[in-house]
Amino acid sequence: MSRAPRVTKPASGFWHDAYPELGRGPVSLKDSTCPEFYEKEKEHVFRKNWLYVARVEQLPGPGSYLTRELEVLGTSVLLVRDRDDTIRAFHNICPHRGNKLVWQDDPFQETTGSAPLLYCRFHGWRYNLDGSLIKPTRADLLLDFEPESCSVPAIQCEVWEGFVFINLDPGNTTSVSDFLGEFARGLDGYPFEGPHQVYRFRAELQCNWKIFMDGFAESYHGPYLHANSFGALTEVAKMDAANPYTDALAYQIDGPHRMFSFYGEPSQQTPFSRPIECLTESSPAGPWDKSGAERPMPEGLNPTRAEKYGFDSFQFFPNFVLIFSSSGFTTHAHWPTGPHSHVVEVEMFFRPPTSYKQRIGQELTVAFLNDIVLEDASPLEGMQAMLNSGALDEFHLNDEEILVRHLHKTVQDAVAAGEAQAGAKT
Ligand code: FES
Ligand SMILES: [Fe+2]
Repeated sequence: MSRAPRVTKPASGFWHDAYPELGRGPVSLKDSTCPEFYEKEKEHVFRKNWLYVARVEQLPGPGSYLTRELEVLGTSVLLVRDRDDTIRAFHNICPHRGNKLVWQDDPFQETTGSAPLLYCRFHGWRYNLDGSLIKPTRADLLLDFEPESCSVPAIQCEVWEGFVFINLDPGNTTSVSDFLGEFARGLDGYPFEGPHQVYRFRAELQCNWKIFMDGFAESYHGPYLHANSFGALTEVAKMDAANPYTDALAYQIDGPHRMFSFYGEPSQQTPFSRPIECLTESSPAGPWDKSGAERPMPEGLNPTRAEKYGFDSFQFFPNFVLIFSSSGFTTHAHWPTGPHSHVVEVEMFFRPPTSYKQRIGQELTVAFLNDIVLEDASPLEGMQAMLNSGALDEFHLNDEEILVRHLHKTVQDAVAAGEAQAGAKT
């Protein structure tokens, strides 16, 4: 795979001229409304690609486990750290008679913990942390039984930079780092390893997962939807012309993945900094933490090497967003629960604070980011209801919305290719 080109805006002034394969016209919105499309999307997008499900720090030692209840995959996933430190994934099912293997009070609630082995509460069978059967109970009753054919069903699982990924496609032969492509290679050297100060939250929204991801694929909406949070942007936007605060520094595309690079002030004090942020040296992009500035910046961050650089946002196909700012990184994972609903999980990773000021700065950042994400979410349920009305067939996208175009095209192409392949087999 060749290095994704470092894209600067074409001389024409339009990003679309750098990516002519995406087209320029209206984009069908049926992929965000149609229940039949959703069924195909589950099969050809979510069950065939690497999916981020946990950080390694959530499985701290041998025997650590956690479960993920992922409606879009039609299964519960069990992640376990084995005695040799390998992180493994399984369908959360006992191969004796199919009992759900690991859960606490409610079989549909995710759980976490640590155990020396996997134990099924139905008939007491025990399994090693690699899924193999240790011992059935009442082995004297078993007929024609081969213990080696009775293991907890495994799922492909790999770790990239501490991010645990699974792939439900038994035919998959691509490693997760190859799947993540040149963008991942461009992040080599980034200090992903813990310990981190982590803030997590999740929300369920009555809208298709893609229309929320779209909101993080452009910042054109900033002066309008975020007028409360970023008043200065709104003042500039009144000129209704090129906006240095919201027009991306770069848009890059690598296969099914996309990223954009975004403005910031070197001092980290922006035109929209509030007094409390200046006091605590924090911002919605994170504390003004200069530790680590001595490290060389990975090649893939700030790809235009802009002096006024703020953050980079990567969207790894299909549903994993990784955002880098001055002092940490944030992830978003978008999990469909239906054609018109999904769960978004947000995680913010900062360096452990070493002073009260830093801790307060982090808490302020989290509060501001939560406000901003809520602003991003605010139009979506009404928007989905109106998309469902059938009054429109297409989105009309501008040049700063090129990554929105790319997400929808990539999903639509994956579904079309999957359907064609399925048709060829029948
Ligand atoms: S179903 Fe698990 S031991 Fe019987
Ligand atoms: Fe936004």
